[in-house]
Amino acid sequence: MKLAEFTDKHIAFREEVREFARKELLEESTQIERKGEFPWHIINKIKERGWLGVNFPEEYGGLGLDTTSYIILVEEIARVCASTAIMIAAHVSLACQPIYVHGTEEQKEKYLITLARGEKIGSFGLTEPNAGSDAGGTETTAEFVGDKWLINGSKRFITNGTIADLIVFTATQDRTKKTHGISAFIVEKGTKGFEPGKEEDKLGLRGSITSELHFEDCKLPRENLLGKEYEGFKVFMETLDGGRISIGVLALGIAQGALDYGIKYVREHSVNGKPLYKYQWVQKIISDAATEIMAARHLIYHAAMLKDRGAESVTEEGAMAKLFASEVSTRVCSKIHSIFGKDGVTRKYPLERFLRDTKLMEIGEGTSEIQRIVISRQILGR
Ligand code: CAA
Repeated sequence: MKLAEFTDKHIAFREEVREFARKELLEESTQIERKGEFPWHIINKIKERGWLGVNFPEEYGGLGLDTTSYIILVEEIARVCASTAIMIAAHVSLACQPIYVHGTEEQKEKYLITLARGEKIGSFGLTEPNAGSDAGGTETTAEFVGDKWLINGSKRFITNGTIADLIVFTATQDRTKKTHGISAFIVEKGTKGFEPGKEEDKLGLRGSITSELHFEDCKLPRENLLGKEYEGFKVFMETLDGGRISIGVLALGIAQGALDYGIKYVREHSVNGKPLYKYQWVQKIISDAATEIMAARHLIYHAAMLKDRGAESVTEEGAMAKLFASEVSTRVCSKIHSIFGKDGVTRKYPLERFLRDTKLMEIGEGTSEIQRIVISRQILGR
C-alpha cells in the first residue's frame, strides 16, 4: 500500500528499512520481546545506517531526511519488532528533537551530534510517581544555588532510562506556579547525584527498557538548562506533539504486523476442508482491519507531512493520529487474534506479542483520555 504523497525517495527508503527489518529483525523479534533483552546488536546495525538521526541535518550528525522518513522508519521496524521501534522513537523524537528545536548552538554541538550519530542514546524524563497524566504536577525540583542547578526528585516509566547517556527532563523551580514554574534540563549519565533506578516488568514491549530515574542533590552546570527558565512545560508539550505521531505510527506498525500474520494464517489454514480466507466472516475481519489501518496511516502521515511543511503546531493532528491509531491497533490485534481460534490460546504465533505490545500504545505519551482532552481543547477551547 502506498500513500499518494510519498515521493520516490520515501518509497526507496521504505524499501530499504523493510528489507532490513525482514533480514535482520524478523526472525529474532519474538525472542527479543520474550527474553526481555535489549537488542543492542540490532540497535548497533541501525546506528551504522545513520537511522538514529534520520531526520536531523547532516551538520548535526543526522542523515538529513525528513520527518516523514523518520515515521516510515518507525512504522517498518514496529511492524516486526515494536520493542526496537520504541527505543528509536524515544531517542529520536523525545531526546534529539527538543535539543534540535530548543537547544543552544553549544548544546547542539555538544549533545545532538553524538545522539544523531547514535554514539550516545537519549531519553526523555517527564513522568513522575505523582505526575503522570497531570504532567504539570512535576515534583522534581531545580534550585539555582551558587553557579549550579541543584536537582532533587524522581522520574518513572522512562523509556531507555537505564541505557541512556543523556536525558532531557523537567523540574520545577516554583511549584506554586504549576506549569509555569517548570524548566527543562539536560543530565548526562555518570553525573554525581543522578542514578537510573529499577526497570519495570512490563505487559508488553519487554525488549525495551522502561525505568526510574533518581536525582539526589545532583548538581548541573548553568548551561544544562534547555530552553528558557520556566518554559520547560511548553518545551515538553511541544515535543510530545511530535512524539505522539511516533506512538501513532508504532501502533500502526503493530497493527500492520498483526494483519500480515493474519493474512498468512488464513491462507495456510483450513476449516472443514475449506481455506479460512474463503469464509465471509474472515474476509470481513481482514478487510475491516486493512481499511482501518489505511485510515490511521493517512492521519499519521498527514501529521508528519504537516511538520515537514513547517506547520507551526501539530498538537491536534498528533493527538488525533495517536488516539485513532492506538485504538485501531488494539481492535485489529484483537480481531485478528480471534481468527487464530485454538492457536490463539498458546504462544505458538507472535500475535500474542502484538496484542500485549499494542495495549501500551493507548497509554504511553498520554493516554487516550488525555488525547481527547488535547483534541477537545483545540476544538472547543479550555
Ligand atoms: N505546545 C505548546 N504549548 C502548550 C502545549 C503544546 N502542545 N500544550 C500546552 N501548552 C501550554 C499552554 O498553552 C499553556 O500555556 P499558557 O498558560 O501560557 O496559556 C501551558 O502550556 C499549560 O497548558 P495547560 O493549561 O493546557 O496544561 P494542563 O496542566 O491543563 O495540562 C495536559 C494539559 C494536556 C493534560 C498535559 O498535562 C498532558 O499532555 N498530560 C499528559 C502527559 C503525557 O503525555 N505524559 C507521558 C510522557 S511520556 C514519558 O515521560 C516517558 C517516556 O519515556 C515516553
